[in-house]
Amino acid sequence: MSKGKILLTGAAGYIGSHTWVELCQAGYEVVGVDNFYNSERDVVERIGKILGREVLFEEADCSDLQAFGKVFEKHPDIVGAVHFAACKAVGESIDKPLMYYRNNIVSLLNLITLMTEKAKAANIVFSSSCTVYGQPDEDHLPIAEDAPLKRSLSPYGKSKQMAEEILSDSVIAFPHLKVCALRYFNPIGAHPSALIGELPRGVPQNLVPFVTQTAAGIRDHLNVFGDDYNTPDGSCIRDYIYVVDLAKAHVKAIDKLVGETEVHPVEETDEPTYVDAAKTGRWYIYNLGTGRGLSVLELVHGFMKATGVNLPYEIAPRRHGDIEQVWADPHKAERELGWKADTPIEDVLRSAWNWQKTL
Ligand code: UD1
Repeated sequence: MSKGKILLTGAAGYIGSHTWVELCQAGYEVVGVDNFYNSERDVVERIGKILGREVLFEEADCSDLQAFGKVFEKHPDIVGAVHFAACKAVGESIDKPLMYYRNNIVSLLNLITLMTEKAKAANIVFSSSCTVYGQPDEDHLPIAEDAPLKRSLSPYGKSKQMAEEILSDSVIAFPHLKVCALRYFNPIGAHPSALIGELPRGVPQNLVPFVTQTAAGIRDHLNVFGDDYNTPDGSCIRDYIYVVDLAKAHVKAIDKLVGETEVHPVEETDEPTYVDAAKTGRWYIYNLGTGRGLSVLELVHGFMKATGVNLPYEIAPRRHGDIEQVWADPHKAERELGWKADTPIEDVLRSAWNWQKTL
C-alpha cells in the first residue's frame, strides 16, 4: 500500500530525479512534474527503468498557475510536495534576474496557493541552499541553522532567501500548512545505477561536472580557482554531499510532515498575530551536509585516487564572488530527522565518474 501521493516539481532535474527514486522506494506514490526547461525528457523513462515500473508524470510549468492547477485537478489526493523546480546558476541569475524571480518565486507562490487550496494535505518540502548564509564568519563554522543570514549577492541567492520568507509567512497565515526548508550544501555524484546524474548544459560551472568532463578528455584541464585563500592548502572549502544521501533526507522530511498528525494552531494571544514562524511548530529548517569541509585540491586528488584517472589541473585566479569556506553543522537533521550523510567521498567521486562514462 502506498504511503501517500507526493508531488515532485523539477522531477527530471539532478536532485529531483534522485529524490523521485528514493521516495518511490520508500513506498510513496510520486507524481513527477517538469517542463524540461533545464532537464531531459528521457530521465522520466530512466526513473521507470530503475524502479522497474511505470511512473506518474505530468508535463507542466509551475509558474503557469492554470497549467500547474490541472495537475491538482487530476490528482486531488496529493498529501505532500517536494519543490525543486527552479533555476540555479548564480552567474546567469545576475544577467537574467527577472527570469530567476519568475521561475523561482512565481512557481513557489503557485505551489503554496495550490497546496493550501487544492491538495488533500498541505505539506511542503522546499529545496533551499546554503547560499542563504553567504560568507559565514569564521567563528560560525561549521554553520548551523541559527547562524545569521547575510545579504545574498545574486538574484539566485536572494530568490532562495525570499522563498524561505514567503514560506514562513505562509505557515503563519495557513494553519494547515507545514513546511520543511532544506538547505543543501554542495550535492555531487550520481545514482549507483548510472542511469541518472547531473546533466550540465554547455560548459559546467560547478566543480565536479567540470572534473569528470576533464577526466574524460572533453576539457583539457581544470582551473582551480585560487590557491591563496586563508585555508590549509589555499583552495576554497565546501561541504560536498552525495546526491543519493541528500535525496534520502527528503524522504525523511516528507515522513516527518506527512506522518505528524498533531495540529499546531497559532496560539491566540494578545500579541500581534504576526509571530515568529518557528513558534507555530509547523516550520522547520535543516542543513543538509556531511559536516566535513573538503578543499578543491583535496577533491581533485581524491578523484584521481578513487578512479585511477589522471586529472590535469592548473591554478587559476580566484573566481569572482566565491565564498572562501563553508561547511555544515548537520546535527539538527540527524537529531530531528534521523538522517545522516554517510557515503564515503571516494565512492561518491567514483559514482560521478561512472556516470560521466555513460555520457
Ligand atoms: C554555489 C552556491 C550554491 C549554488 C551553486 C550553483 C555557495 C556556498 N554555494 O556553489 O548554493 O547552488 O553555486 O551554481 O554560495 N571550482 C574550481 N574550478 C571550477 C569550478 C569550481 O576551482 O571549474 C571551485 C570553486 O571556486 C569553489 C568550488 O570549486 O570553490 C565549488 O564550486 P561550485 O561547484 O561552483 O559550487 P559553489 O560555488 O560552492
